[in-house]
Parts: sequence; structure tokens; C-alpha cells
Amino acid sequence: MVDKNVKFKHMKDGDKEDYMLLRELEHKYVSLTYERVIEELDRQGKNTMEGYKITRLDHGLQSATRAYNDGADIDWIVGTLLHDIGDGLAPQNHDRFSAEVIRPYVREEVTWVIEHHGIFQMIYYAHHYGWDKNARDKFKDNIYFQSCSDFCERWDQTSFDPDYTNKDLDFFKPLIKEVFSRPAYKEEFIRKNTVLGLPKS
Ligand SMILES: [Fe+2]
Ligand SMILES: [Fe+2]
Repeated sequence: MVDKNVKFKHMKDGDKEDYMLLRELEHKYVSLTYERVIEELDRQGKNTMEGYKITRLDHGLQSATRAYNDGADIDWIVGTLLHDIGDGLAPQNHDRFSAEVIRPYVREEVTWVIEHHGIFQMIYYAHHYGWDKNARDKFKDNIYFQSCSDFCERWDQTSFDPDYTNKDLDFFKPLIKEVFSRPAYKEEFIRKNTVLGLPKS
């Protein structure tokens, strides 16, 4: 805790000194986002969706390990590690929640894939509930369709295996820190309308 607070009780009563103080403190808070991301991943190893053979943390680690082993770039690796980080607070729309966490810092392609992976994953199970397993086809003309299809096939749906040897969270921490230390929404990182795809397997 800092020993200095704003003077106002209602935002509209704040003066320049108040808002300069908040800007300074917010800068520090934002710079530590990576620590809170790591805390949430860690939490997913303790309190998790039941029924699967592994925790959500291990699912993220396993997906990201597959990406790493395939020679994926840091955007893919961190995006893949965090693709289900929304499960805890947004279980009904976890894909979009997870995408918003990474959107300011990684390639648009990776964000789009994470944002839409939920509907793409339906191809593996939706028919068991009487739903449309091909619901993803409405995105067939999107430039990132194939990337999302490949992400689900190679890194997501494969990563529920308790016998797979994951890299641990410590291994990925420097990568998380690097990505979340980037300036937000910079075109050199966002790379709009650029399809790199997954590395060849
Ligand atoms: Fe998911
Ligand atoms: Fe997943």
C-alpha cells in the first residue's frame, strides 16, 4: 500500500494533483500485470473444472509445451498458455475473456484464435449434445480460420493427457513477463491482418 491517496470521494471532484498521482501508481500497477497473470494460472492448479484428468493449469502448460516444442513464437506460446485463463471468472465466455487479457500485447492472429477457440473446439464434441459441430463454419472466410483450426487440433484438444510431460510454470514465467512488458497496442507487436499460421509440425 502507498501512504498517499487522492483527496476526492467523487471522481468529478479530483484535481490535477490527484490524477497525476493515480497515473503514476497505475503505471506501476500495469507493469506488474504479469505477476497477477501468474497468480491466476497458479490458482487454476488448485481450484479447477472437475471431471477432466488434469487441472486447467496443467492443460494450459501442456498446450503451451506443445507450442514450444513445435517451435512456435513467443506470442503463440504465451497466448496458448493463457487460452483458458478466463475459465475461473467467465466460464460462459472464457475464450473472449482470455483474448482480452492478451489483446494489447500479442499478434492479432493469436488474439483472434484465442477469442474464437471455443466455437472451433465444438467440432470435437458438440454432436454429443445435439449441437452443430460445424458452427465454426460461419468464420470460414476469415483469414485466421486455418490458424484457429490448427491451434485446436494440435495444441488444445490434444492437451488433456495426464501422461504428457509438461514444462512447468517456472519455465514460462520469463516469457509471460516479456510479453506483458511490451507497450500496449503497438502495431509492431499487434501486426494486423498478418497470418503466420502455426509452425509446420
Ligand atoms: Fe477453452
Ligand atoms: Fe483449452
